[in-house]
Amino acid sequence: MLGENYLINVRHALRASNLAVATYDEHATLQRAVADNLLESLDVIKITPQIILEIGAATGYCANALAQRYPRAPILLLDYSPAMLGYARRKLRRWRSRERYVGGSAEKLPLANASIDFIFSSLTFHWCNDLDAVFAECLRVLKPNGLLLFSSLGPDTLRELRDAWSSVDSSPHVNMFIDMHDVGDALIRAGFASPILECDKITVNYERVDTLMRDLRRTGSANSISGRKKNFSTRRDFAQMVKTYESFRVDSKLPATFEVVYAHGWKPERGSRAQDGSTVATFPFAELKRR
Ligand SMILES: C[S@@+](CC[C@H](N)C(=O)[O-])C[C@H]1O[C@@H](n2cnc3c(N)ncnc32)[C@H](O)[C@@H]1O
Repeated sequence: MLGENYLINVRHALRASNLAVATYDEHATLQRAVADNLLESLDVIKITPQIILEIGAATGYCANALAQRYPRAPILLLDYSPAMLGYARRKLRRWRSRERYVGGSAEKLPLANASIDFIFSSLTFHWCNDLDAVFAECLRVLKPNGLLLFSSLGPDTLRELRDAWSSVDSSPHVNMFIDMHDVGDALIRAGFASPILECDKITVNYERVDTLMRDLRRTGSANSISGRKKNFSTRRDFAQMVKTYESFRVDSKLPATFEVVYAHGWKPERGSRAQDGSTVATFPFAELKRR
């Protein structure tokens, strides 16, 4: 698990999410690609949910897609950002589905035990410091045989930016992300049955470092680490970081790597608990798509 200095400062992250609301959709290229992959995985997981919860619903993109896929199921859109929920509500007002908006944290879901058939969450759990609490809550609110399907980010995410800043100083300038195997272990600890995890790398190519920094800021995804420098970096520091990042340029583009973890697990039947000896199946995402 991550040390104190590397935990997310939740107040900072929440503020960033609130501030990003008006710019999120325009800059969420990575988030859209990951959400579409995760939604596509539902083509091979056969479920007929009666009620769905999306954790970290932001502007409602995934909830809208879920409503089209499962038109009979009401969807609860949960987010800790009131600004995001307000935006989603305004945007989806004309929606034919029966959606509900729920303010709350993934670590303490304001929902009854065994009340949800399917929990969907894309690129939200890496903002949570206590993954054990998140999975325990998901298991609690799921009905027996309910499904948790989510995506998250792994440690190689933004490695170029992390390396570029390390040429300037030793402060953490980029969020830290939990390894897929630790995520799988946490699913097992919580009691999920048959967890499956896949990993994929997505490289987004940029002309300039500022554009990457702008996308991170405008999607509320910039550095929110507790141990980050409290004062702004100087122009000289920034110029040094850019200079190092420029040395990673390939075919006239600056790569930004995102290591994406896709995972799902099931709540066991009532009264039964996943075996202590259960193991996590892991394989590269590309292999899954080839099957
Ligand atoms: C990167 S956005 C992803 C949004 C959406 N799933 C998508 O794919 O576009 C993460 C969202 O999770 C919310 N969030 C982050 N941590 C959270 C937490 N602990 N509890 C509830 N919401 C959280 C943020 O406010 C933000 O709206």
